[in-house]
Parts: sequence; structure tokens; C-alpha cells
Amino acid sequence: MAPNNEKISTLISKEELQKRIKELAKDIGKDYEGRDLLIIAVLKGSFMFLADLIRELDCHVGIDFMGTSSYGASTKSSGEVRITKDLEQSVWGRHVLLVEDIVDTGLTLRYLVDTLRARQPASLKVCALLDKPARRRVRIGLDYYGFIIPNAFVVGYGLDYQEKYRGLPYVGVMEDEDQHS
Ligand code: PRP
Repeated sequence: MAPNNEKISTLISKEELQKRIKELAKDIGKDYEGRDLLIIAVLKGSFMFLADLIRELDCHVGIDFMGTSSYGASTKSSGEVRITKDLEQSVWGRHVLLVEDIVDTGLTLRYLVDTLRARQPASLKVCALLDKPARRRVRIGLDYYGFIIPNAFVVGYGLDYQEKYRGLPYVGVMEDEDQHS
């Protein structure tokens, strides 16, 4: 039960998340075997996915974070993304895996991939837990993804609604969509 007023129904259970993350970690571990990997997680939503993913990974992993936000009156659809927190380490010559909680319009990821590519990593791949293709505005390829989800407002497992619900151990759907459409 969500600890607030909104009604939330489970979309992806804790068990389903953990099972899929184990599978993703296995694939990633195999692909990066023998190589040092730098994981860059995008704040804030991806912190929980990152924490569970790296605990399942069987390879050497460094971690860094980037923060982003959108310009404009409408938060997500302005089409302009800016960096609010940059990396603390260089990606030059390193194998980089960008980790996101959700890809919605794809604008954040597009911007981050372009920004990181310009810094010349040895390789750059993208892993997103949730893929919501119905809202995509730019083409972006995902090397690893956890779940394809419908066009609904999702919260939990790192994702928020007005900064609430990030701590839920499952991904849920807000039932009263009028509040945020
Ligand atoms: C979310 C999510 C992605 C981005 C995806 O972040 O974590 O970074 O939106 O949206 P897009 O594909 O439309 O660009 P948000 O701006 O909600 O910040 P938060 O992670 O700090 O909650």
C-alpha cells in the first residue's frame, strides 16, 4: 500500500524486478567480461536500479553520476536538456554503461549519449530498466532494457510523483491520471 493518498496499482512486482535485474546483470557481466566498466547512473530515478544491478554484477565496476533537467515551462517536453551535475571522473578511453530508470521521450538519453560520445569513451552502451516507446520523440537505441511498459504514469523503485514514492520496492501505476496529465 502506498504511504500517501494517491491510488497506485502494481505494474511490475518486486519479485519480477529482481528476477529481470539478475538476467540483465548476467548479460552485462558476460559482455564486459575481462574489462573494467564504468557505470554512469542518471539521477535521481536510477539510484535503486543501480544499487540492485551492481550487486548482481560479476565484473569490476566503477560508478559515477550525472544529473539532468529540462528547460522550459513544461518539464519534460521542452526538448532542451541541461546537465545539473556532471561526472567526477573522465570517461576518455573507458568502457561506459549509461544506466537510466526510464526512457520516455528519449530526450534525456539522446542528450546524454551525445554528450558522453563527444568525450570519447572506448565504448558506450545504454541500459534502461523501463522503456515507454509510446512517448518517444527521438530515435535512441537501448543495448539493455528491463521492461517495455505502456503509456501510463509510473512511480516507485526510484521513480517519483512530486518527489513521492521513490522508495516503493515495486513499479506502480498512478490510477488517478487526471492529477498529472
Ligand atoms: C526521468 C528519468 C529520465 C528522464 C526520462 O527523470 O529518470 O532521466 O525523466 O525522460 P525522457 O525520456 O522524456 O527524457 P526526471 O526528470 O523525472 O528526474 P528524476 O529522475 O530526478 O526524478
